[in-house]
Amino acid sequence: MTTTRTTIALLGAGTMGQALLAGSLAGGLAPEDVWVSARRPEHVERIVDVHGVHGTTDNARAAEQADLVVLAAGPAQVLDIVAEISGHLREGAVVVSIADGIALADLEGRLPAHVGAARALPSITAQAGHGLTLLTPGASCTTAQIDAVTSLFARSGEVLRVEEEQHAVLGPLSSGGPAHLLYVADAMIEAAAVRGIPRDLGRRIVQQVMAGTAAWLEQSDEDAAVLRADVCAPGGAGIRRIATLDERAVRAALVAALTD
Ligand SMILES: NC(=O)c1ccc[n+]([C@@H]2O[C@H](COP(=O)([O-])OP(=O)(O)OC[C@H]3O[C@@H](n4cnc5c(N)ncnc54)[C@H](OP(=O)(O)O)[C@@H]3O)[C@@H](O)[C@H]2O)c1
Repeated sequence: MTTTRTTIALLGAGTMGQALLAGSLAGGLAPEDVWVSARRPEHVERIVDVHGVHGTTDNARAAEQADLVVLAAGPAQVLDIVAEISGHLREGAVVVSIADGIALADLEGRLPAHVGAARALPSITAQAGHGLTLLTPGASCTTAQIDAVTSLFARSGEVLRVEEEQHAVLGPLSSGGPAHLLYVADAMIEAAAVRGIPRDLGRRIVQQVMAGTAAWLEQSDEDAAVLRADVCAPGGAGIRRIATLDERAVRAALVAALTD
């Protein structure tokens, strides 16, 4: 695959597919280089109208246009879709599955030998240009194919190469992570509302606090616990709030949720 322009087929355009599409287009991907397929024709039509990409309900038709095929339907559909498209893939194409829990070996075993396979786990925050994709290229991938897959996901955020066994452990932190932080954000906004603060003001404050804390953590070499001590002077209100969270086992509950 030596062309500089890569044609992408996105098979499945639900929550995650659309997040990737929006983030990638905002990151410079040309709509005319994208084919999208989904199950419902009216859904495809809406995506074509909104984004100016090519659309179809025929997975094989989308796949045969593409150098890079992203499988973005649910885990229960993905291997059936592979069976639909495998006879229609271009020589040297690469197929990347974002389906949680579908093993690379299952993908590779169903694809023709001339096609590369990779597994990726993106995050919904791709739609805001701050995604994080865990990427595991299969042994079947060439360097050019890995570069093409990396470039696609890098349009909407960061890409981290990981081992396939790490997906199950890292997924709850990365692709599941926004749900945990939004849970905390929602609770903070609600607590402010209990004390009479309008939710839009609470939300603005919490948003900036989350963005500022992420930037601070990124800038510093210190551990999160060390940074937290800077906001929690001994005997002060900050440390008492953390003590209340600990008394109610919030930290233990988070660790349990992420390790169950
Ligand atoms: N949501 C996340 O945060 C997240 C994070 C990481 C990975 N993932 C992975 O991303 C994949 C999609 O998740 P999602 O949350 O986006 O699911 P979703 O919202 O249910 O979307 C599924 C999409 O697949 C389409 N589809 C279903 N069967 C199809 C078929 N046979 N051919 C073509 N398209 C088909 C659906 O089309 P219609 O809309 O027309 O019905 C829909 O657009 C899953 O495998 C999941 O493990 C999700």
